[in-house]
Amino acid sequence: MDLIIYYSRTNNTKEVAELIAEEKNAELLEIKDKKSRSGPFGYVIGAIDSFRGKKTGINYEKNDLSKYDTVYIGTPVWASKPTPAIVQFIEENDFSGTNVVTFATFMGSGGESTITAMNNRIKDKGGKIKRSFAFRMTGNDKKQLVQEALNDD
Ligand SMILES: Cc1cc2nc3c(=O)[nH]c(=O)nc-3n(C[C@H](O)[C@H](O)[C@H](O)COP(=O)(O)O)c2cc1C
Repeated sequence: MDLIIYYSRTNNTKEVAELIAEEKNAELLEIKDKKSRSGPFGYVIGAIDSFRGKKTGINYEKNDLSKYDTVYIGTPVWASKPTPAIVQFIEENDFSGTNVVTFATFMGSGGESTITAMNNRIKDKGGKIKRSFAFRMTGNDKKQLVQEALNDD
């Protein structure tokens, strides 16, 4: 069994996570940020918090990651970095012996730097990165992106 973990502010990452879950017959786990990220104000503070690596509080159902074959972790790109909620999740969890696939959704740039930052944090927590995907949302069909990405699995 696989587990798909994600944080999403405006549903792009949620939709991608759901499509992966469908392809892989996997469970889903949503991470919620305790800090409000809605509206234009939430956007600006979110970008600043992410850029500065500011910590945040999160809510999610605690789970033992080591019981899954592969754990997928998805984040939107915020200021070319993973979101505070996903950084916090990695911080709070043990990835030793866990196979991890990381993915990010973005609009224009910062996909690669986000993946690198996320992968380094997961490796520091003992996780083994199997693959990573950066999904550009502009003008792309999510279902097609996910199917192509998972094609050679
Ligand atoms: C605070 C904030 C910062 C963002 N920074 C970037 C960025 O640096 N590069 C980029 O391509 N997209 C950026 N975006 C756009 C999101 O990465 C993109 O819309 C993503 O798919 C949103 O995922 P979600 O719908 O799951 O929240 C930013 C969005 C927000 C809210």
